[in-house]
Amino acid sequence: MQIQIINGPNLNLLGMREPEIYGISSFEDYFNELENRYPDIAFSYYQSNIEGEIIDKIHETGFTFDGIILNAGAYTHTSIAIHDAIKSIYSPVIEVHISNVHARELFRRHSMLAPACKGVIAGFGLDSYRLAVESFLIK
Ligand code: DQA
Repeated sequence: MQIQIINGPNLNLLGMREPEIYGISSFEDYFNELENRYPDIAFSYYQSNIEGEIIDKIHETGFTFDGIILNAGAYTHTSIAIHDAIKSIYSPVIEVHISNVHARELFRRHSMLAPACKGVIAGFGLDSYRLAVESFLIK
């Protein structure tokens, strides 16, 4: 099984950025843990702060990978272009968030992406990614 993880803007700063919300672990460390936990899954990881690059990665992997786990950061709440990219591909996409976006500012409650995704997981810290992986293992 091949799974692509895509992180959007500001998620390169995980571990330093607002640690009370996003925790103290870098994504690279967490990614190593995921790879060790699921030795039979081929994970790829990509992060970009640029909307078009996220779209390019969705196009690049969305016809061959078994699934995409996408934390589009703040683009979640604004990007019709990423919504359209998700609709354009075949691979199922799970929207994930580290924080519980519904318990924060009002503007985080709306997702432009959720209607195009297979499901949404939010609020479990970095474990949101692991729960998304588990969702791909459900038969
Ligand atoms: C986030 C939530 C978004 O609202 C925010 O803009 C982020 C991170 C999360 O993982 O909790 O950058 O996607």
